[in-house]
Amino acid sequence: MALQESPFKFTTFNAGPRFCLEKDFAYKQAKIICAVLLGCYKFKLSDEKKAVHYRIKLTFHIDGGLYVHASPRH
Ligand code: HEM
Repeated sequence: MALQESPFKFTTFNAGPRFCLEKDFAYKQAKIICAVLLGCYKFKLSDEKKAVHYRIKLTFHIDGGLYVHASPRH
């Protein structure tokens, strides 16, 4: 059985009685978008040596951004 994380750890979808009713649908949409993009493009980090750190804000922010080069798959 998968371990359930507390919704209070990542509050973008709110937590408690007013939490987002379609959080799972939103995650599914995000995964579909990623799958479509990965099917069409190859992504390569602009700087592969750069350490990636998150910043906990209202959304999950990448500190300083995450620059990539995208090239079409043939
Ligand atoms: C990235 C996408 C989304 C984010 C970040 C998000 C975030 C939130 C947040 C923060 C709330 C709480 C609002 C409040 O307390 O007043 C909320 C509520 C809600 N969301 Fe989402 N949401 C997302 C996508 C969706 C989608 C795709 C649907 C429906 C298809 C949806 C349906 C709802 C509904 C019905 C509520 C009201 C829940 C209630 O008041 O009891 N959300 N959402």
